[in-house]
Amino acid sequence: MNWRRSEIPPLNETQFQSWQTLLEERTGMYIPFERRSLLQSSLVIRMREIACTDYEEYLGKVLEKPAGVMEWSTLIDRLMVRETRFCRNTESLALVQRFLTKRIIDKSEGAPVNIWSVGCCTGEEPYSLAIACNEAYLENDLTPRFGVSGTDISLSALQIARAGQYSRRQMSNMDQEWISRYFEQTGEEQFSVQPGLKQKVCFSMSNIVDIEKNPLRNLDVIYCQNVLVYFREEKKIKVLDSLAERLAPGGLLVIAQGETSKWRHQSLEKVDDNLTLAFVRKEPTVTTQITH
Ligand SMILES: C[S@@+](CC[C@H](N)C(=O)[O-])C[C@H]1O[C@@H](n2cnc3c(N)ncnc32)[C@H](O)[C@@H]1O
Repeated sequence: MNWRRSEIPPLNETQFQSWQTLLEERTGMYIPFERRSLLQSSLVIRMREIACTDYEEYLGKVLEKPAGVMEWSTLIDRLMVRETRFCRNTESLALVQRFLTKRIIDKSEGAPVNIWSVGCCTGEEPYSLAIACNEAYLENDLTPRFGVSGTDISLSALQIARAGQYSRRQMSNMDQEWISRYFEQTGEEQFSVQPGLKQKVCFSMSNIVDIEKNPLRNLDVIYCQNVLVYFREEKKIKVLDSLAERLAPGGLLVIAQGETSKWRHQSLEKVDDNLTLAFVRKEPTVTTQITH
């Protein structure tokens, strides 16, 4: 078939498989053949921008070292699902707040609380967690001492997160009282995260597929929502096992309901709550050796 220069043909099965494999290896995201059009439309948009009309040629550009690194990063920004908002899952967030209200009291000598938002996207989730944590301190009449780390694979999402500027639309789930307390209005529909809260949240690029490279450990809360939905079971289990090992004793792992149904971990106990899917890391049991 003869295609005009500006036209890009549909992905054939072999081309689709090459892209499918690369994406799964590098991001964990598995695209079944039925959803080929999703991948194809993102590829075509990007290929048009750089005047490339051949999928193999574009794959070659992405794989090229070191030049392909930038192209890969641009493509990832296009391919990742960016749906998020403040207080997106109210039940999960309320669970974190209840958990932290108790945890803060149990922490020895006012040690800081450490929270990890995995796949934090444009920042709405980690800032919501920071607010819930701050509220937990206020409830206990204690000076807040905590940090939230937001990590994501998408550099452009992280850039928006660091800027901390949002429109009212992204806040539709949030209490008016929280908006007034934690945001400064910068325009008719624009809000900026209050500096005091912003400094408690930091962002970094981290690929959950390479979780062993991430230095975060000993966390009080790990919040991983709507990130593993496109992962196949085997990869999901590997990531979740690794997250479980990064919790401090007594720490809480919260994942989205529907993210996994079967996964369990021997060191974790499921939280008895129908509205959320969460696990607490068991405290180590002290075994006394009796010597004769
Ligand atoms: C649908 S958004 C969910 C955002 C937020 N967790 C929420 O529930 O509102 C999924 C996020 O996961 C990120 N993501 C996907 N695969 C990832 C990976 N392998 N490593 C790190 N982040 C990833 C995407 O870039 C995107 O920002």
